[in-house]
Amino acid sequence: MSISRRRTLLKVVILGDSGVGKTSLMNQYVHNKFSQQYKATIGADFVTKEIQMEDRLVTLQIWDTAGQERFQSLGVAFYRGADCCVLVYDVNVLKSFDTLDNWHDEFLKQANPVDPSSFPFILLGNKVDIDGGNSRVVSEKKAKEWCLSRGNIPYFETSAKEAYNVDAAFLCVAKTALANE
Ligand code: GTP
Ligand code: MG
Repeated sequence: MSISRRRTLLKVVILGDSGVGKTSLMNQYVHNKFSQQYKATIGADFVTKEIQMEDRLVTLQIWDTAGQERFQSLGVAFYRGADCCVLVYDVNVLKSFDTLDNWHDEFLKQANPVDPSSFPFILLGNKVDIDGGNSRVVSEKKAKEWCLSRGNIPYFETSAKEAYNVDAAFLCVAKTALANE
């Protein structure tokens, strides 16, 4: 029996409030780089990363967007065909957690997947490095409760700065997207 090497393209969309670290997480994952300087993302763009998963060569196409812009202005094309949606909040900023419901619902509205109730999301609580965790305002428990209420979404606490849990989170993204494909 021969082993086939199949190529698979997976589209991943990253959403969340401005400044939570969407671009930083993507840069850390794809380029192993982190910059302290904040440069707001304008519009939307994607980067790709290839990963070998069992007999498949998977190309993750990761779409990053501006948290600052109004959602609708991005257009449906940005969300269409997504295999997974990564939601990001900052564990030190309550508002970025409170707006997760909006991002979640807007994504489903725009992407309009065949089965919204089973569409794969992943939640990342970023910037856990800040102040050794002393300035966080959203507990892990609270975040996990939200995930449970939204159909048991996988949850990772991350630091784009210290490359903490970033690879693990995106590996979960790839696996989840693949399972949904
Ligand atoms: P928009 O493009 O405006 O939507 O923001 P964004 O979500 O892409 O945020 P970005 O990645 O640009 O990060 C915002 C700021 O937070 C930058 O100054 C980053 O250096 C900083 N930052 C991002 N992730 C982390 C982190 O894990 N820890 C710390 N300490 N700072 C971070
Ligand atoms: Mg950005």
